[in-house]
Amino acid sequence: MRVIVLLGAPGAGKGTQAEFLTERLGLVHLATGDLFRAAVAAGTALGLAAKEYMERGELVPDDVVIGVFKARFAEPDAERGVLLDGFPRTRAQARALDTALAGEGSAVERAVYIEVPAEDLLVRLGGRWICRAHGHPYHELYAPPRVPGICDEDGSELIQRVDDRPETVRARLDVQLPALAEVVEYYRQAGVLATIDGTKPIDVVSGELIAALEPRRGKAA
Ligand code: AP5
Repeated sequence: MRVIVLLGAPGAGKGTQAEFLTERLGLVHLATGDLFRAAVAAGTALGLAAKEYMERGELVPDDVVIGVFKARFAEPDAERGVLLDGFPRTRAQARALDTALAGEGSAVERAVYIEVPAEDLLVRLGGRWICRAHGHPYHELYAPPRVPGICDEDGSELIQRVDDRPETVRARLDVQLPALAEVVEYYRQAGVLATIDGTKPIDVVSGELIAALEPRRGKAA
């Protein structure tokens, strides 16, 4: 079973690239942030548990996240192989993932880290709009929709995420970047890390990700 981990800071472009990669590689897109936002919108117990952490820019506790991951991973479509976006985000989550995969006789094939400096992340998150229906991401400067305010993919209205407010963005970066560095190091030591320069244009980043993920062509770094 193919398991790819997409790593990056908030705003690095994980969601943007995940759409392209899952289509190209035939994988299922499993994004913990999307699962939490859907739970918040539906008003479930999970949504209530996650909401306060997300709005403060903090990480949702590991036991909650790992439970959500395992439930989604157990669904039948995951057998096609998965692209993990936004999970794991701590060492404990990375270890839980390894344990779950070992139980299936599998392991993380590759962890690709989209590296973007903090100053660029502030601009990206400040200018991001997502569609109400499916969360397709746009940027007012770098990836505008064809029709202002409307999603190219599904025609739904574009909105801004609550956690993209400037004060929450700063909290997200302060809290989440140290944890990300630990996870990047975890996969470097495991010998499966590839690092991609995420400051390049979206289509260039896509091409470099594909090169890193194609069997026998990518190099661990
Ligand atoms: P989540 O939804 O995963 O948010 P995130 O990691 O903060 O990442 P983002 O969705 O903000 O950014 P992205 O990397 O997908 O960038 P995008 O493609 O949109 O998580 C939300 C919250 O849930 C977390 O804060 C946490 O509270 C909780 N959570 C989720 N998972 C968790 C976990 N495992 N453990 C604990 N808590 C968890 O791009 C950003 C913008 O830049 C867009 O406007 C895009 O158009 C633009 N852009 C993209 N690429 C480029 C490029 N190459 N050049 C120029 N612009 C670009």
